[in-house]
Amino acid sequence: MLALNSAQWNIADPAAAPALSSDDVVVNCAAYTNVDGAEAAPADARAVNATGPANVARACAAAGARLIHISTDYVFGGDTDRGPGRPYELDDPADPVNVYGASKLDGERAVAEALPTATVVRTSWVYTGGSGNDFVAVMAGKARAGQAVDVVDDQVGSPTYTGDLVAALLQIVDERPAAPLLHAGNGGEASRFDQARAVYAAVGADPDLVRPVGSGAHPRPAARPSYSALAHGQSEWAGLRPLPPWQDAVARALAGA
Ligand SMILES: NC(=O)c1ccc[n+]([C@@H]2O[C@H](COP(=O)([O-])OP(=O)(O)OC[C@H]3O[C@@H](n4cnc5c(N)ncnc54)[C@H](OP(=O)(O)O)[C@@H]3O)[C@@H](O)[C@H]2O)c1
Repeated sequence: MLALNSAQWNIADPAAAPALSSDDVVVNCAAYTNVDGAEAAPADARAVNATGPANVARACAAAGARLIHISTDYVFGGDTDRGPGRPYELDDPADPVNVYGASKLDGERAVAEALPTATVVRTSWVYTGGSGNDFVAVMAGKARAGQAVDVVDDQVGSPTYTGDLVAALLQIVDERPAAPLLHAGNGGEASRFDQARAVYAAVGADPDLVRPVGSGAHPRPAARPSYSALAHGQSEWAGLRPLPPWQDAVARALAGA
């Protein structure tokens, strides 16, 4: 396995692709992921999230290599018909509410056009829970320090542990489900408030230190979907094994499992 960084394969540059062979499986995790920054730099976001995947797909097509491309729940916007218990399925229309989501949707379409045999895998609210700066890691740090925290309770999604996501990606590599699009996220749905409370509980801190606030309390440059939970039924019919429930995943991530 080879893990390439942006200096080794700048996907925005069509001439930068390394030599690929028909035995290769490329998993494109590269993206412009600064959701707020993308609002002020849409061309930069598009170069990596839309043009980049097109370049990767063309390089794979030319070499006969397989491609698994990672996309996001932020292609959905949480329209007025959406809410708890109505997660987005593969065939629900996308309606991104920010530049990042729109650029990722363009990337999905570019991959499908350039390499119809590619698999686009949408995931959501990804975390390791380790020493990084993802949501779970940050909340775990505050919990261990006994800090109170205000967390939004009006954004709902499907938190996903990288360990479980990697297992799903490896299953896709090995078993080749014949699907151009899949949803791979931990089961169930949660608000950021729910997720933070679960983190506090998992590290033995008092969940009541987490207080609910509305998104208006934390204005950001980019709008966020109010609801972007992913449904997995159609992906399971296509052969993807369901990922464990999100609560179980948080506990395992923080236990280092
Ligand atoms: N994190 C989430 O909650 C979440 C949710 C849904 C979907 N996703 C998707 O999951 C994938 C991985 O996200 P992540 O959270 O791991 O993002 P991340 O930590 O920001 O990593 C993005 C990576 O993309 C690389 N990159 C940026 N521009 C590049 C370019 N022009 N060419 C090649 N590589 C480039 C960066 O490499 P350098 O460091 O070398 O620049 C970095 O390693 C993305 O497709 C993202 O859209 C993430």
